[in-house]
Amino acid sequence: MTTESPELAGGTARPAAAAGPPVPAGPPVPAGMAGPSAELLAVFDPRHRADPYPALRALREAGRCHWMSAGSPRIGVVTRHPDCIRLLSDPAFGHLTMAESVFRPVTDVEEGLRSMLRANPPTHTRLRRLVSRAFTAGRIAQFGSMARELAADLLDDAVARGEIDLVDAFARPLPLRVICTLLGVPPRDEEVFGDWASALTRGLDPDQMMSAAERAARAEGTRGFHEYFTELIARRRVEPGDDLLSALIAVQDQDDRLSAADLLDLCVLLLVAGYETTVNIVSAAVLAFAHAPEQYALLRERRELVPATIEETLRFDPPIQWLARSVLADTEIAGHAVRRGDGVIGVLAAAHRDPDVFPDPDRFDVTRYAGPGQPARHLGFGQGIHYCLGAPLARLEAEIMLTALLDRVASIEVTADPDYRPHLAVRGPRMLPVRLIPA
Ligand code: HEM
Repeated sequence: MTTESPELAGGTARPAAAAGPPVPAGPPVPAGMAGPSAELLAVFDPRHRADPYPALRALREAGRCHWMSAGSPRIGVVTRHPDCIRLLSDPAFGHLTMAESVFRPVTDVEEGLRSMLRANPPTHTRLRRLVSRAFTAGRIAQFGSMARELAADLLDDAVARGEIDLVDAFARPLPLRVICTLLGVPPRDEEVFGDWASALTRGLDPDQMMSAAERAARAEGTRGFHEYFTELIARRRVEPGDDLLSALIAVQDQDDRLSAADLLDLCVLLLVAGYETTVNIVSAAVLAFAHAPEQYALLRERRELVPATIEETLRFDPPIQWLARSVLADTEIAGHAVRRGDGVIGVLAAAHRDPDVFPDPDRFDVTRYAGPGQPARHLGFGQGIHYCLGAPLARLEAEIMLTALLDRVASIEVTADPDYRPHLAVRGPRMLPVRLIPA
């Protein structure tokens, strides 16, 4: 879920030289690419937050690569499916240290997500291997019955009330409980975690687009998480529990173990990566159903389409809208030469509606991933070495929540426009007022 903060041209970013070793000068900026295009700026305009897709289409149609800044290092933005796949799969693209990266936060403090998400091989390979030993299919399956019971309770209550804020009543509490239980965080601490996680998720956006208060909240969230998990890790070392954190402490690969710093970064990563993304996929599915009631009716008749519906929601309205990479070795992308130190952003949300790859891309179609043959891949869980480690858990949670909805609700009406969070990279509604018509 790497969504590092790009520096927009004209922003208050520090000059590159202040942040690390000099980066070799890139090739001259092609004529007409002296700064961000109108299409590119529109993508960041808060007016498009509720429906960014027309602006993303305009960006995709205006060219394969757009430039956010004219200087060096530069940041390119790619929107087409093959270019996004290349960006995420080619080892010439990866992560630089925050000091070297063109995506570093404006603030001097290194904040936000670290861990394997922003590591390259061999560090990434080592961390991922160790975490995969603890985060097993068996551990994920243990959450099935707990999540089913909680989904039933939450929805019974929501249906009885009729008109609800779907985020608050349903989409948010379940993923929060699952991720906190996974890490051994007790229910009494869930709320404060939710707030910290939100502040960190917003903190993934460009610093220039955040208020001073939002940056302060990110710093506060980072500090809060670190203090909390430092203590929890110390406690679990002496009193192991039946949670992922205890398993991560115990995990061993030959002589290799996770260090205290690795553990701390991982806890923060899992909590942030696994919470708002899952909330947003459920909200996105409900919104899509409200706008395409015939698709919901079809799904009620054909429950075997639930897994395909989750994939289609990830394509149609992905919780993670873009991913960023640094150029590690001189190469080219989307027909343009890029140099080590440059940055490239792959806009998944635009690639997912690339008409060369997805027929009738603006249509939400629960049968799209159900037919025979190999449908084009969405990139909602990423691609390549950083492919979402929590994808099986996210799919399980989404399946349980959708099934509980289909069991109890005949149709869904949106009663007021959803209020979107300001977050750009991890997009989703803060509030989604709906009326649930009981089955
Ligand atoms: C619908 C829900 C989710 C979505 C859309 C999602 C999406 C993503 C994406 C796009 C990436 C790739 C990031 C990159 O390439 O820079 C990623 C990585 C990751 N996700 Fe998820 N995720 C979801 C749920 C979860 C859950 C529930 C967990 C864990 C509890 C999780 C843990 C991770 C981790 C640890 C990584 C980093 C993997 C690595 O760097 O090797 N995610 N996720």
